[in-house]
Amino acid sequence: MGQLNQRHILVAISGGIAAYKGAELVRLLKKQGALVRVVLSRGATEFITPLTMQALSGEPTHTELLDEAAEAGMGHIELARWADLMIIAPATADVIARLAQGRADDLLTTVALATPAPVAVAPAMNQQMWAHAATQENIQMLASRGIQIVGPSAGEQACGDVGLGRLLEPEAIVIALNQRFDNRLLEGRRVVVTAGPTVEAIDPVRYLSNHSSGKMGYALAGACADAGAQVELISGPVHLDPPDRVTLHLVTSAAEMCVRALELADGADLFIGAAAVADYRPESTSADKIKKQAGDTLVITLVENPDIIASVSQLANRPVLIAGFAAETNSVMDHAREKRLRKGLDMIIANDVSDPDTTFGAEQNAVHLITETEERSLPLASKRVIAEQIVLAVADSLERLLRRP
Ligand code: C5P
Repeated sequence: MGQLNQRHILVAISGGIAAYKGAELVRLLKKQGALVRVVLSRGATEFITPLTMQALSGEPTHTELLDEAAEAGMGHIELARWADLMIIAPATADVIARLAQGRADDLLTTVALATPAPVAVAPAMNQQMWAHAATQENIQMLASRGIQIVGPSAGEQACGDVGLGRLLEPEAIVIALNQRFDNRLLEGRRVVVTAGPTVEAIDPVRYLSNHSSGKMGYALAGACADAGAQVELISGPVHLDPPDRVTLHLVTSAAEMCVRALELADGADLFIGAAAVADYRPESTSADKIKKQAGDTLVITLVENPDIIASVSQLANRPVLIAGFAAETNSVMDHAREKRLRKGLDMIIANDVSDPDTTFGAEQNAVHLITETEERSLPLASKRVIAEQIVLAVADSLERLLRRP
């Protein structure tokens, strides 16, 4: 069984002559153990019936944006959340253009916009349409957002033309999707990730914390595991399911997170600090609930928490590569550069949390990767796609650091 076993794969089929090959793709994915749901665009239903796809996938086929059968009528959101990966095959020139524009004018494009999962696109169209500058620009835009482009291949076309634009054969699409989950970039590496907020108790019922959702750290832990790493995820309290093949260590306060991080980071290959650690904690925690005194002012003295990532960087057996996050609201790059140096990090991943698209709790993120020698931007994409791009970058830096004499 390959990497697709038990994965939730959403197959979206748009209206081209190659739509019939979507049926074969679904059959092959099911053979790999994947759980498959199918979205047909209205055009696709001219080429292939919802019933065929239902029989092959074993699930109802989805065609309409407004779905009365779905919980709260929001079938698109349910599908978007359900998917571990969305593959649009075939993707017509029109669908590619609409995806590039971020349109949400049918079920297929709406789900593509709403899903936090990685999206892959398998184009299929007449060779002249594929070669057109408009299509090429759209494809480049999708690729720059982390969307995987599989194919097209060259050969004879349904219209009689010969050239690039044929849908990649379903077997080849399945191989490409397998590789997506199994890129072996961090094979054999030991990785420690911190995620989520920390919670600092004031008394048994009250605490100090922050808005971190843990989504970015969990996406990173999942992407590292999919890249073959042995992953230890140290997480503050969040409402997320841990990714598969990750060892979860649940903690509450910064002090607890620090102890666990120092223990697990010792001798690790990679440490990623994605947690939003509270900078301060109450000097003491009241054993009993603090009572309200009418007219009183309550003073809570706060003391500084340990800087976990800076302490990890001081370990004698320090991880080979340490990457931290800098969530900033102003002068993002300057603060991030300063933080990288001050904390002794190899890489800092800066993001602007004053932007509602990329703030705490958002499904998407846009970040800047800063190392000693390089700075580059990863444009707005789902946190999972950003995580995969960060894994690519850290795997590359890690190889270079390990080769250094
Ligand atoms: O909060 P700050 O912007 O300083 O966080 C930058 C980086 O340092 C993040 O990677 C965060 O996980 C880490 N950090 C930490 N311990 C702290 C504060 C921050 O590990 N006490």
